[in-house]
Amino acid sequence: MDITHPDLHPLYADHLATLKSRTDTALARAGRDHLVLAAGTPRYEFLDDKPYPFAVNPWFKHWVPVTKAPGSWLVYTPGQKPKLVYLQPHDYWHVVPEAPAGYWVEHFDIAIIREAADAVQHLPKDPARSAIIGEDIAKVGPFAPDNPKALLDHLHWHRTYKTPYELAMMRVASKIGARAHRAAEAAFRGGASEFGIQMAYLDAARQTENELPYSNIVALNEHGAVLHYTDFNHAPPAHFHSFLIDAGASFHGYASDITRTHAAAGADEFAALIDAVDDAQLGFCAMVKKGQSYPDLHVHAHHVLANILREHGFIRMSAESAVESGVSSTFFPHGLGHGIGLQVHDVAGFQESERGGTIPKPPGHPYLRLTRKLEPGMVTTIEPGIYFIDMLLAELRKKPVAKDVNWDKVDAFRKYGGIRIEDDVVCTNGEPENLTREAFAAAV
Ligand code: GLY
Ligand code: MN
Ligand code: MN
Repeated sequence: MDITHPDLHPLYADHLATLKSRTDTALARAGRDHLVLAAGTPRYEFLDDKPYPFAVNPWFKHWVPVTKAPGSWLVYTPGQKPKLVYLQPHDYWHVVPEAPAGYWVEHFDIAIIREAADAVQHLPKDPARSAIIGEDIAKVGPFAPDNPKALLDHLHWHRTYKTPYELAMMRVASKIGARAHRAAEAAFRGGASEFGIQMAYLDAARQTENELPYSNIVALNEHGAVLHYTDFNHAPPAHFHSFLIDAGASFHGYASDITRTHAAAGADEFAALIDAVDDAQLGFCAMVKKGQSYPDLHVHAHHVLANILREHGFIRMSAESAVESGVSSTFFPHGLGHGIGLQVHDVAGFQESERGGTIPKPPGHPYLRLTRKLEPGMVTTIEPGIYFIDMLLAELRKKPVAKDVNWDKVDAFRKYGGIRIEDDVVCTNGEPENLTREAFAAAV
């Protein structure tokens, strides 16, 4: 997307108006006069002058599409034009952040500073009346982040409802991811190693690893059974059976989170299982509707996946008893998904209301990350999977229900690792918008 596209101006103006109005209420709740957001401060490796990759405070990039401005600050006082205090050091050792430009700058008073400590002169006169949001390390002078809970509860809650501007950013992040997924699949079909596939992905995304919203999972064969497999073997395997890739992209601070699983040529039984999970996944995506309880959807997914396990000959028990006895969790041991936006695992997945509180996870589902009801504007991932994980299968084998498992079939599938299909889906007032499927359709 061309960021100077005129349509972004009104979208961004509306987005900013929404943030201001949310912040007005949040400041009133916390009894403060100013919102002060720290972009953040680089951290260094122990005994070294080498910084870790910089990750901007997500609240900062909620206001401005700027992700590479350590030492900068943003101030909002109700009724006043927001102020960006922008650190552009005089420095010939490092890249100096570019001068602010684009559709958003006209909405800010901008003060350029050359030293991090100079930010204090441009921040509110009374730090005690400020809600200062950031990590401790971002402290400058008397401005130590204090992250008031009442303010953050309100802002976290509302951040789950994306503005049209945010959805536009997420559509682009999805398109970049879909384009790169196509390149990764082609590399797999061409016999590349995990490392080679990763290089093909980064090249097509035109993003470095540090710019991606999370570390890519590029897993050939049994590596797909390691849920967060982040090694990259440099040598191709002797035999190709399967390929699971969980990889996203970023755009103006917003994330996409996409997983696809591919069968190698000739792995027909595994391909049929992928098709079954894909069909099931589309069914779950269609249920991303106003008022849908996400934990109910997660438990529904367990039943559908258990049925697939039965139909494909892995288990002999009914779907109901597979879910009740925990057998479905051996094969599907993670949550159905999570909110996504400025962070790949977005905030407030368990929050009860804008005043805070926690909605507990259903018993027996410790890894679910979203317990809220879906409402228009929320974006969630839908990422069911079926895996053949040695550790979990060994535990299952010791239980009485093991007699209703077809171990020969299970053992024959270990070499494939597992299947996950993951899309990012917007809940609307009507039919859901599947950002990922639409991006793949456009990337043909
Ligand atoms: N890529 C991380 C996740 O799917 O949650
Ligand atoms: Mn995910
Ligand atoms: Mn993922």
